[in-house]
Amino acid sequence: MSKLIINGKNKLYGKIEVKSAKNAMLPLIASCVLLDFEVGFLNCSDIGDVSVMLEIIKSIGGKYRYEGDTLFVDCSSVYIPELPCDLSKKIRASVFLLGPLLARFRKVSAVTPGGCNFGDRPIGMHLDGLRKLGAEISGNEHLYLRADKLKGSKIVLPFASVGVTENLIMASCLADGETVIVNSAKEPEIVCLCAFLNRLGAKIYGAGTHKITIHGVKKLTNKITYFKPITDRIEVGTYMLAVLNTGGELEISGANFLHNTSLIKKIYNNTCKISLESDKIYLKCCGVGNALGYVKTAPYPAFPTDLQSPLLAYACSLSGKTIIEEGVFKNRFSIVNELKKMNADITVEGCRAIVNGTNRLRGAVLNAGDLRSGAGLIISALGAEGVSEISGLEVIERGYADIDKKLRLIGADVTKG
Ligand code: UD1
Repeated sequence: MSKLIINGKNKLYGKIEVKSAKNAMLPLIASCVLLDFEVGFLNCSDIGDVSVMLEIIKSIGGKYRYEGDTLFVDCSSVYIPELPCDLSKKIRASVFLLGPLLARFRKVSAVTPGGCNFGDRPIGMHLDGLRKLGAEISGNEHLYLRADKLKGSKIVLPFASVGVTENLIMASCLADGETVIVNSAKEPEIVCLCAFLNRLGAKIYGAGTHKITIHGVKKLTNKITYFKPITDRIEVGTYMLAVLNTGGELEISGANFLHNTSLIKKIYNNTCKISLESDKIYLKCCGVGNALGYVKTAPYPAFPTDLQSPLLAYACSLSGKTIIEEGVFKNRFSIVNELKKMNADITVEGCRAIVNGTNRLRGAVLNAGDLRSGAGLIISALGAEGVSEISGLEVIERGYADIDKKLRLIGADVTKG
């Protein structure tokens, strides 16, 4: 298992560029299954989860290639409506292929997906939604889905799930008649997926709201050559929190600040200066910040669960008490035991972590249990006294491209071991 070795306390200065968002790319690639032509996605970087998704596409008969940072995906030759077991177990997002494969082949078989290890991640809502569109589903660990015809329907989601919203949008694009998804999620990645599908000829209305309406079409026929996905707001937030934790000045290009308003509101005026441009965030630290009070994660536009561990890591070095409540994945606190090894003062009570900030965090031997807790550990290690070794780098690389190189470029003492 590879690791990162970080000698903390270097301030970070310079520029970082972020590229297309992992969580936008995964459903976009899945949606290519609906197409019988090649599409190029601009501004992509090589991240682990995207590579696994592309391998799944290849295993069902599709093709992909990179030209520089443009990723071309061609699903015209996809012919196997069966998801490979080993690859599907590696990423949660393999479940996104159920909707589009069902729409194209009227049948699909799959295993329940894997993914980041932060507790139970059921797929019942995905399956219930597809049932509403006419799918018959059997099996447990191995699933068999079949639908002679997908038929538009009204689907009310019990929770505004990102993946379920995306899956049902992709399935209903080619269904007969109108589908209405009520309590749909509003994340920018969903808006991005809908913009892509609409350019191809889909008829999707209301993306970015809690009610999305899809008028099914026979085929997506508008051939487009290129599409530019949104950039990675979670990567942006991670680098913002890293520089806040170490001190310094950072310019993040490619960042759409509107996608990070919940974070910006939390840190605004907290001994830092922020200037925002249309595709740039500039952050200058002016001393140790104050504790953050109460933060609760929830679906967009609230504070994102994917930045909960990075924020928790930052809160450890602020003076005073911060309470962070996890409102999306109740067991997402695997970072806490690792941070305690660094001398952090954190108590977990149910879905809440209570952090008493201290500026005495010290380096330790740590393990990245999941992608975002790994990112949080990097943030802590960068600000801590002494050397930290973080194992599980491959878990972090599932969502962060070249994180060691990017950090070195802005002055961090980081090596790969
Ligand atoms: C997506 C993101 C992930 C992020 C999450 C929440 C991608 C590839 N991943 O994951 O990074 O942390 O949104 O913003 O975009 N649930 C069920 N049954 C289901 C599906 C979900 O109970 O069938 C629950 C989940 O356990 C969780 C909640 O719904 O408690 C939200 O999860 P969801 O929005 O579906 O997350 P993902 O789409 O898997």
